[in-house]
Amino acid sequence: MPTMQAMQYRRYGDPGQIVPAELPRPAARPGQILVRVAASAVNPIDWKLHSGRFRLVMPVKMPSVPGFDIAGEVVEVGAQVSRFHCGDRVYAMLDNRTGGASAEYAAVGESAAARIPGNIEPQQAAAIPLAGLTAVQALRHCAGLAAGQRVLIVGASGGVGHFAVQIAKALGAHVTGVCSTPNVELVQGLGADRVLDYKNQSVFATDLPYDVVFDTVVKTRFKPFLSVMTYRAVYVSTLPNAVLLARSFLLPLYSKRRIKPIIVKPNGEDLQYLSGLVEQGRLQPVIARILPLMELASAHATSQRERTAGKIVIAISG
Ligand SMILES: NC(=O)c1ccc[n+]([C@@H]2O[C@H](COP(=O)([O-])OP(=O)(O)OC[C@H]3O[C@@H](n4cnc5c(N)ncnc54)[C@H](OP(=O)(O)O)[C@@H]3O)[C@@H](O)[C@H]2O)c1
Repeated sequence: MPTMQAMQYRRYGDPGQIVPAELPRPAARPGQILVRVAASAVNPIDWKLHSGRFRLVMPVKMPSVPGFDIAGEVVEVGAQVSRFHCGDRVYAMLDNRTGGASAEYAAVGESAAARIPGNIEPQQAAAIPLAGLTAVQALRHCAGLAAGQRVLIVGASGGVGHFAVQIAKALGAHVTGVCSTPNVELVQGLGADRVLDYKNQSVFATDLPYDVVFDTVVKTRFKPFLSVMTYRAVYVSTLPNAVLLARSFLLPLYSKRRIKPIIVKPNGEDLQYLSGLVEQGRLQPVIARILPLMELASAHATSQRERTAGKIVIAISG
């Protein structure tokens, strides 16, 4: 049986649990493609899932290979696959519950994949799927952000936030980004019309209210945002806690405003939309660091500090 190199959590815990492993190479099942993974990227859900904090609602069968983002080359196509062929350069967010991207090969449904834009390399493409899909699904599908609307993006320098700023600009919105002092220039460079440095300014300082608030970090309570939201504004959160979920049901009883939690879903069409923006030069991943697969534990530990501007990419095969 052919094997592959991978990194896996031995058991629930911190990134110290990550060890190298030689595992059986997966095969493409019907509807799937098998990808030789050139690069992956780290998302907070990777270490959160494997820490065990969600084990009651999202259990992980240990040992487990973390990671959802892949970019690489198709090496095998399963039955009923029609869009991809061996040799195609593709990227995807893996369409299973726990991941598997920190490995030399990964199988994914063809409906979750898209071709890598011709103007970027796999290491850049790997930075996009989960975080980029979260941003596009939050802004387009949850909030219905339209040209001319005003949007506040909290966490504008992070993995999700830096894509959200660029997507909102591409949609024609007026963008205010919130970040810390060292990242102000970065967020301006992404195209934000206004940047609020939350270390020195209030996030709630604005002359005009926002049509959309996209909170990607959720360190601030929801209530104060009401004072800067228009009559029909939508608030989208990447961390739907119980209090926020309860509010999302209660708010429509007395207001036209809405709270919409986002749970990102693998989606090849949304990824194709992002590819279009990349090809037009309107979307570019910011890559904070590129680390080899063997240093995945260090990458997860860095992500846990919640100070990464842009994405940490994991280089896997040449
Ligand atoms: N529900 C879903 O489907 C979904 C999908 C993707 C992500 N998420 C969640 O969304 C969150 C963000 O994900 P991510 O990938 O963007 O994470 P990330 O890349 O680790 O975000 C790091 C950023 O957070 C910012 N930050 C940290 N503390 C902050 C604060 N107090 N106020 C404002 N910004 C702060 C930092 O910016 P500064 O240094 O500039 O402050 C840093 O750039 C994570 O909790 C993740 O698990 C959920």
